[in-house]
Amino acid sequence: MIFIRPITRSPNDPISNVFMSDSVKLIECPRDAWQGLKGQIPADLKTNYLQALISASFKHIDAVSFVSPNAIPQMADSEQVLKELAPPDDVEIIGIVVNEKGAQRAIATEAVRTLGFPYSISPTFLQNNQRQTLEDAIEELEKIEKRADDAGLDTVVYISMAFGNPYGDDWSVDEVVAAVGLLELQEIRMISLADTVGLAPPEKIQQIVSAVMAEYGYLEIGVHLHSRPDEAAAKIGAAFEAGCRRFDSAIGGLGGCPFAQDALVGNIPTEVVIETLRKQGAQLPPLKPLDALLKATSEIGARYKSQPHNNGDATNSLERTNN
Ligand code: COA
Ligand code: ZN
Repeated sequence: MIFIRPITRSPNDPISNVFMSDSVKLIECPRDAWQGLKGQIPADLKTNYLQALISASFKHIDAVSFVSPNAIPQMADSEQVLKELAPPDDVEIIGIVVNEKGAQRAIATEAVRTLGFPYSISPTFLQNNQRQTLEDAIEELEKIEKRADDAGLDTVVYISMAFGNPYGDDWSVDEVVAAVGLLELQEIRMISLADTVGLAPPEKIQQIVSAVMAEYGYLEIGVHLHSRPDEAAAKIGAAFEAGCRRFDSAIGGLGGCPFAQDALVGNIPTEVVIETLRKQGAQLPPLKPLDALLKATSEIGARYKSQPHNNGDATNSLERTNN
């Protein structure tokens, strides 16, 4: 059953104010960058990398997930990584969960600030990714949100396949807007529109983000895009133009999508987001130079792309330069 609560809209709401300005929120997504790599990245290297992000002043990090270790073996050590990291209070760690068990695990770390739930208007995606129907997903989200509320945590919901559907499921702009409305009724205030397969050209991104902003501009609406490197800047520019002020990305664009047809489709590189938004006059959070992180990212990508041979030393430039 869907539990409907009224929502109070106020022009003085801090979220509304953020989105009337040009100030943007950047969400760094190492979890998305790493989860498709076949080689297991050692927990202490993940911790070092996350620590380097925090040292570079990233304040919002999609760092971990609490899902079945059979589904995503790379993230099985999320508890250990966060225990070693012990993130400071001014850093928001987002943990992805698809069920109540995941929510309980995330809350128990006492390091996760926000639970991230992948929703979708695509039944095929929900089935493949988390074995849920559309109704199951909303029911599971209610349970997760209740757990989050009780523990004083926030919830962000992703709408996967918001920009088109590679499986042939019904898709329309109106359905995307309606899905945002459904989540709003669940009192979700942070919603990120995801193009998991990197399908959408910039014009479509502008169209969909504009349609959502027109109805729900008082919520924190973000984009989680994937792209070929040469199209990334135009996509980010289109989302910003349409009023989006929350951007997911990953340094170096690491992280291809397992469902994408095109092997060149990866995460949007954070460095491209920064450059593009700066040119467009956005107010960006102050970040330190990313050179060491770019180097470490490409080393991780190269080393853990395929199964490890288990015979080399696992040092990374971060361990030498950025502990
Ligand atoms: N954390 C740890 N283990 C979990 C879990 C969680 N949150 N949720 C379920 N499991 C375990 C079950 O206990 C079970 O373990 P067992 O084999 O030792 O008994 C195992 O996972 C399988 O669970 P089951 O209920 O049979 O479902 P399934 O195999 O169909 O998997 C999900 C369903 C939802 C658990 C799985 O598909 C999943 O974790 N998906 C998430 C995928 C993801 O993270 N995608 C990327 C982010 S968008
Ligand atoms: Zn992604």
